[in-house]
Amino acid sequence: MHFTNNKTLFTLIGIALCVTASATPVDEVLVIDEELEMTTRVQAVEGHPISEIYSGWHYRTPETRALEADSFANPGMLGVEQGEEIWHTVEGSEGKSCASCHDDAAVSMKGVGANYPKWDEKTQRPKNIEAQINSCRVENMGAEPYKFDKGGQKPLTAYIKNQSLGMPVELDLSEGEMQSWWEKGKETYYLRTGQLNLSCASCHEQNHGKHIRADHLSQGNVNGFPTYRLKQNKLISLHNRFRGCIRDTRAEFPDAFSDVLMGLEVYTTWRGTGLSVETPAVRQ
Ligand code: HEC
Ligand code: HEC
Repeated sequence: MHFTNNKTLFTLIGIALCVTASATPVDEVLVIDEELEMTTRVQAVEGHPISEIYSGWHYRTPETRALEADSFANPGMLGVEQGEEIWHTVEGSEGKSCASCHDDAAVSMKGVGANYPKWDEKTQRPKNIEAQINSCRVENMGAEPYKFDKGGQKPLTAYIKNQSLGMPVELDLSEGEMQSWWEKGKETYYLRTGQLNLSCASCHEQNHGKHIRADHLSQGNVNGFPTYRLKQNKLISLHNRFRGCIRDTRAEFPDAFSDVLMGLEVYTTWRGTGLSVETPAVRQ
């Protein structure tokens, strides 16, 4: 291997040295507001390379875990409340809000977020909640689609997913061509890229439970997105997180909602089958 600069060499050594100390996920139970018991560890779905699946919650500090257990203290709930306001806001040429058609989200959106991405006949590709929101805005409201991470995209997505809090994640891979997108996502997951030659699996499958720099590596599950990141003081969307992880390997990162990242969303969501929806999870 030829190193182009000392910085790369230094980082490689840094990663080799830092991913050593082992610390297993904590043996605790997440109960939200002392009443809603969450499934944060579960037997893996058939075909999964890891036998027991853990939510990223198990890898966080006691303080961070406590924030998620209390919906008053969870700073991500402000985003959810903002989403609720947008839900009731009229926008676009048709003079409608989301609520005009879907009424009470606690009823109409209950369980919806636990089963996305879903196959979309119209576009012949999987759609996530963000894509569904945009399609309703354009086709049902006469409003502009949200750009990635802009406008109400994160708060509305968080609001919709929060209506499924505690419900198990499950995808229907028999719809349309979901299976081939799953395959594509799996390829991406194991593809080593970037100057550091790392794949998602290098960190989240082979080294979960260990420390990397100042962070404790989880299995990289997606059941809490959008998540509130304390480091950034805001809600972070799933595709932003994907891009950040890819950037950390010093690789070019794909566009949000591109085929590559949609495949990855299908595949990583499947890997977390059976975990409770935790949106908005609190992470480092
Ligand atoms: C004019 C009525 C109308 C408005 C306004 C509307 N929708 Fe929809 N929405 C629909 C219809 C019809 C469907 C089902 C068919 C489809 O997928 O388009 C749907 C489907 C959905 C779904 C998927 C439900 C599922 O079971 O998979 C979500 C999520 C959703 N809408 C969110 C929103 C949000 C958020 C807004 C506001 C930004 C909104 N909708 C505005 C009519 C509307
Ligand atoms: C160099 C190691 C590394 C690689 C490679 C990497 N990640 Fe990560 N990832 C991290 C770290 C560190 C975190 C923050 C701590 C944690 O939750 O694991 C993280 C967090 C995540 C999370 C958030 C988990 C949660 O509970 O909120 C997801 C999802 C994720 N990664 C997905 C991916 C995917 C998909 C890939 C491949 C495209 C990838 N990561 C590649 C290091 C990595």
